[in-house]
Amino acid sequence: MRHLIFPGSFDPIHNGHLDIAQRALALCERLTVAVLHNAQKPAKLFSTEERLTILREVFAGAPKVEVEAFEGLLVSYVQHKGASAIVKGLRGVGDFEYELQMAHVNRAMAPAVDTLFLMTDPRWSFVSSTRVREIASLGADVSALVPPAVCRALRGKFGQG
Ligand code: PNS
Repeated sequence: MRHLIFPGSFDPIHNGHLDIAQRALALCERLTVAVLHNAQKPAKLFSTEERLTILREVFAGAPKVEVEAFEGLLVSYVQHKGASAIVKGLRGVGDFEYELQMAHVNRAMAPAVDTLFLMTDPRWSFVSSTRVREIASLGADVSALVPPAVCRALRGKFGQG
């Protein structure tokens, strides 16, 4: 597994994502954190540029990590990058149902592109970007759930967080 792709919306990245990225890094030589850019369906809180800026700050001290945006089919992007596999986190059965379908669809389109699943650390099994956005928008502290760069960006959006 020389080069893995860790795709997502990352709106915003939280500690569960970070844990998956750190553990994936131990399994590969290079990790691309790939942010979905969908002009038809923009991310709910942060623009693609904002998400890229946050992610680059979060991974600034990690030379094996690159941060990029991608558009269109994930498997086309993975093939274009010449990566070995996709890596994703699974929090529980809810994620499993959805991710199983995505992994099968992706493999049907590109049989050489496999998906590697890592089980989310139980500490973060309840954390999602949706919950982080909601808590921060209601003025509560999310510093236990997200990296400091995200806290700062949320403060910029909501005046606190
Ligand atoms: O963080 P998310 O929302 O779980 O990430 C989902 C993501 C970006 C991995 C998924 O939406 C995706 O791969 N989108 C690209 C379009 C695509 O390839 N879809 C699958 C086949 S229809």
